[in-house]
Amino acid sequence: MIKMILNINGTDRILVVDPNEDTLADVLRRIGLTSVKLGCGAGQCGTCTVLLDGKPVRSCVIKMKSVQEYAKVETVEGLGVSAKPHPLQSAWIALGGVQCGFCSPGFIMSAKGLLDQNPNPTRQEVRSWFQR
Ligand code: FES
Repeated sequence: MIKMILNINGTDRILVVDPNEDTLADVLRRIGLTSVKLGCGAGQCGTCTVLLDGKPVRSCVIKMKSVQEYAKVETVEGLGVSAKPHPLQSAWIALGGVQCGFCSPGFIMSAKGLLDQNPNPTRQEVRSWFQR
């Protein structure tokens, strides 16, 4: 086990992790960020997506040994709250993107990753993004 610091949703957090066994999803869920869902656990479904240094990653397949000290991690908990949702969360609700809700946090974070890079994507660019 090692101690490391990550900046999670804007706050530096001291974590104790097993760098070879723990995944980023394991660690985030362990500290209570349960928006990070485990679906396939194999990097296929995207429900565990978070932003790592601004880039969407499937946190279920990211071992902690590959996460840099002081890396910036963003989860849906850092976006908005029910009283003041992020515009993406509002759009998800207004346009029926929620469905059962299990994968919503991961897909919202993936959408944020897209819009941070490309604020005005075409419909085809959105489709291509989510098929990666
Ligand atoms: Fe399916 Fe991570 S849980 S990609």
